[in-house]
Amino acid sequence: MANTILVGAQWGDEGKGKIIDVLTGNADIVVRSQGGNNAGHTVIHGGKKFILHLIPSGILRPRKICVIGNGVVIDPIALVREIDGLRNLGVKIGRNLLISDCAHLVLPYHRALDEQRELRKGVAKIGTTKRGIGPAYGDKAARTGLRIADLMQPELFSKKLTAKMRENNSILKALGAKPISCAKVNADFLAAGERLQPFVANTVVYLHQALQAGKEILFEGAQGTFLDIDHGTYPYVTSSNTTAGGACTGSGVPPHRMDRVLGVMKAYTTRVGEGALPTEDATLAEMLHEMGREFGATTGRARRCGWFDAVATRYATMINGIDELAITNLDGLDKVDPIKVCIGYHLDGKKIDVPPSDAAQLARCEPVYESLPGWNRSTERARKLADLPNEARVYVGRIAELTGARLTIVSVGPSRGQTLIL
Ligand code: GDP
Ligand code: IMO
Ligand code: MG
Repeated sequence: MANTILVGAQWGDEGKGKIIDVLTGNADIVVRSQGGNNAGHTVIHGGKKFILHLIPSGILRPRKICVIGNGVVIDPIALVREIDGLRNLGVKIGRNLLISDCAHLVLPYHRALDEQRELRKGVAKIGTTKRGIGPAYGDKAARTGLRIADLMQPELFSKKLTAKMRENNSILKALGAKPISCAKVNADFLAAGERLQPFVANTVVYLHQALQAGKEILFEGAQGTFLDIDHGTYPYVTSSNTTAGGACTGSGVPPHRMDRVLGVMKAYTTRVGEGALPTEDATLAEMLHEMGREFGATTGRARRCGWFDAVATRYATMINGIDELAITNLDGLDKVDPIKVCIGYHLDGKKIDVPPSDAAQLARCEPVYESLPGWNRSTERARKLADLPNEARVYVGRIAELTGARLTIVSVGPSRGQTLIL
């Protein structure tokens, strides 16, 4: 039995949802342990496109249990909407979904504060998804957050909410924003709480019992390594630990029960929002956007695009302890020739091979590239490594070598079948 942590090895949107969908076939339980509905994980299933925000991508497979762990921040209104949306598309949601009673709530004032803080930062903004993620994790760290357990006790919830609303409305007013009606939030949240109640559980106990019974767990990372609050390109990051350790703290499953870490990375690099992206390339972005690719699954924003950055992915391998690699979107490079790969940075005249911790220094880094020949033909129909053109095999081999982990999956299209398992 192998418990697997799947992490994004770049800046998010690496294709984690698609790889989770592939791997869920062999797992019993899929767990989200951090982030919130800032995530957008795309899965093509039965010819339909699903975008999961809070619910683990395993929900599309029958007989798999999905857990939203204690480390996730939950907007209950958004979660109810997601459940209803999936049910309308024919997905069964019942005893296959569990929600941790320790997960913190995202409230409307978190969203309003997220928006206000971004507005006030002007050009220095982070480019958040405006889902209230930063303020919600801020309250959690300040020990003033409300949790699912509070929502399950209507009287207690209303009392705590009244105090929180008073405090946050005065902050919003001071920022020049409109105050929010406490009565409306109270009514909306209690209604959502009632809908969520059947799913709420002590998920830590559930997961430990499952482990005892020999079940196999897949931890579905959200965001990516360089959006991690500790290890990412601070301050242009999200507010949770997106790296492998987050799977433990965000689920209550201890490190020694984790068997492998799978890093998912695109064959090139993308990023949404602000912050440095050393290998950014306008021509590559234009080509990918013209192909209809690289628009955000949550906000619809055009993603910034660049060449594969091995300085970044090598660092991601180290932080996460990545032993296996999944390379996605190889087909995005089908018409690119030559293909550049960043193998080092120049910072203020010096060659470095580790990303600097300081955002301004990272922004000054000039990539050092090597060029590899393109393959100039479609890879979308490849189903095994031998089906790939020789140049494509060399390319994936080279990026695995530079990243320093074993290549086990190559993805050549968004559908489950367009996957090479090595
Ligand atoms: P996630 O957040 O990591 O789950 O990734 P997103 O779903 O936000 O973005 C990845 C995008 O790439 C989605 O539109 C996927 O359907 C798509 N995708 C994933 N793997 C492949 C692939 O190998 N080829 C192509 N063409 N699309 C892919
Ligand atoms: P998945 O799971 C890509 C980015 C935002 C912004 C920064 C902070 O689909 O890979 P936040 O709203 O979290 O405070 O925004 O993080 N971001 C993501 N970028 N994929 C995601 O999730 C992201 N979640 C947040 O664009 O730059
Ligand atoms: Mg995404």
